[in-house]
Amino acid sequence: MLTINRGRCVKINHVKGNNFGWLFGGRHYDFFATILGFGNTYYNQVAEALPLENRMSVLDLGCGTESVGIAISRQLGGDVEIHGLDLSGTQLDYAAIKSSKSGTSLNLYRGSMDLLPFTDESFDLVVTSVAFCETTSEVRKGAIREVSRVLKDKSCFAIVDCAKPIMGLDTVMMLPFFMFKETAESWNNHYPDICRENNLILENEIYIKSYVKCQLYRKAD
Ligand SMILES: C[S@@+](CC[C@H](N)C(=O)[O-])C[C@H]1O[C@@H](n2cnc3c(N)ncnc32)[C@H](O)[C@@H]1O
Repeated sequence: MLTINRGRCVKINHVKGNNFGWLFGGRHYDFFATILGFGNTYYNQVAEALPLENRMSVLDLGCGTESVGIAISRQLGGDVEIHGLDLSGTQLDYAAIKSSKSGTSLNLYRGSMDLLPFTDESFDLVVTSVAFCETTSEVRKGAIREVSRVLKDKSCFAIVDCAKPIMGLDTVMMLPFFMFKETAESWNNHYPDICRENNLILENEIYIKSYVKCQLYRKAD
């Protein structure tokens, strides 16, 4: 099944986050992401870091071309419900093409992660991969509030984001990109405090790359 909801966010690009439009979105995004080390290996590592279970309902915030959702679906043999939300129509259009090509069932929504079109306690898992670093501090805080609302009790939220680097060649390559990003909360590890204020408690964290960390939070009941 493929559902694309385009009604919600016509004027919010650039205010709510970086717009991955035609030159930087879709097919081009996947091409450049792979060159920068965000290819299949990275997405499989993200999926492996998540507490996956068959038949779960997963929400991916800032899903881009939904490589994370496709990796999760592959790991679970398609026995999962994937919902992906992104600001960019270009990214979602290409996610839809990848969905048909790979035979992966995706539900795609256009919108901003700080205003989610879902009812309370809808999801067993929420994940976001290198998308918080593309938004503002205000949007990130709103998104964490919304995640706490749409997540079921005792379920998990995974923030995969650029973080203070441990040494590695890819860190040196990526430093120029960080200089233009609003990453202070991640860099200074403020997410655990912001999440705790929203009833999300840090359980575990691992580096997936030398400058990308996955933090796993559980919603307290
Ligand atoms: C670097 S890409 C990451 C895409 C994907 N998660 C991945 O791992 O490949 C960041 C994505 O976040 C999206 N984005 C930025 N601000 C957003 C917001 N406020 N709400 C939803 N998506 C947003 C962009 O459109 C872009 O597709």
